[in-house]
Amino acid sequence: MKAKINLVNISKSFKETGLVLDHLSLQVKEGEFVSILGPSGSGKSTIFQCIGGLVQPEQGELFLDDRKINGETGNIAYMPQQPALLPWRSVLANVLLGQELFQKPDEEEAEKWLAKVGLSQYAKAYPHQLSGGMKQRVAFLRALLSPKSVLLLDEPFSALDEFTRFDMQKWLLSIWEEERKSVLFITHNIEEALFLSDRIYLLSPRPARIIREIVVPFQRPRREHLIKEREFLKLKSEIYDQLKEGGLHENI
Ligand SMILES: Nc1ncnc2c1ncn2[C@@H]1O[C@H](COP(=O)(O)OP(=O)(O)O)[C@@H](O)[C@H]1O
Ligand SMILES: [Mg+2]
Repeated sequence: MKAKINLVNISKSFKETGLVLDHLSLQVKEGEFVSILGPSGSGKSTIFQCIGGLVQPEQGELFLDDRKINGETGNIAYMPQQPALLPWRSVLANVLLGQELFQKPDEEEAEKWLAKVGLSQYAKAYPHQLSGGMKQRVAFLRALLSPKSVLLLDEPFSALDEFTRFDMQKWLLSIWEEERKSVLFITHNIEEALFLSDRIYLLSPRPARIIREIVVPFQRPRREHLIKEREFLKLKSEIYDQLKEGGLHENI
């Protein structure tokens, strides 16, 4: 189950902030892992809200495969910036939430995945009993197991310390290698975008425009030591300079 998304000339403004997205066009091909890398407040989450149908762009068109989906909800699996687990539901019940809306929930499958991410013993626990990283894994599984062919992940690891974050990135890649869903991933971390993606869109500060598209040249599966290799560090520093020129000053 794979799909492609296509954003064509999307513009969006808010009364309070003015123009946030400025004629933005981007694509995710079937089975591709694409990142959007840009400064805080540039409009990254707004892009996701447009794709998810929560926000209506004033201009432009959004397509899932070849179907126009402007303003339509329920098309994609979406992991928002905060894990947003339901506190009164067990871990297992939170994971199943993404399925319940569309089909009979598959407990056996959910348990299998909980085991894969090291949370078997927590199936019956409640969100307040979990660490930040565990909550993010639960929120991630909820999105992964909802029967959707496109996965939107909004800074899923931003709250984690560097070591946990790297573990989660490796873990995400190992899962993605199995499923190869189409992924659109938001981050403001250059290393993360380079380590994970097939392609990266660099965004300008608000109003967001695409300042560069990078085809990431590293082979898959990505190895841990990649982040220390010369080519990787070179590209990382090139992107840093480019974002700095564009006016990026925080969070890197
Ligand atoms: N619903 C909204 N109403 C008004 N302003 C908003 C709304 N959503 C986002 N914004 C504003 O749009 C800008 C971009 O926000 P956002 O897309 O969350 O940026 P990012 O995810 O890149 O940090 C910010 O200035 C934010 O305050
Ligand atoms: Mg955001």
